[in-house]
Amino acid sequence: MDEDKNIEIIDKMTKVCICKSISRATMKKVIQNGATTLSEVQKATGAGSGSCHGRRCSVKINALLEELKESDISNKETP
Ligand code: FES
Repeated sequence: MDEDKNIEIIDKMTKVCICKSISRATMKKVIQNGATTLSEVQKATGAGSGSCHGRRCSVKINALLEELKESDISNKETP
């Protein structure tokens, strides 16, 4: 429980898209609400539209998509 809270706080403080100041918490919420691709996440959050044009955040968003997809699969496999 405390660890979940800590992760939640860290996610709010961690900026995935530095140019647009978009947190990992926002990215996770969009992915959990159904975004499955980089472009869907970018469209929903505005990430990738900053001065670096997604050079810095695209890799991090793709990693987050993979991470959440894997945790979703492992959650479904557990009875
Ligand atoms: S870090 Fe996301 S657009 Fe630059």
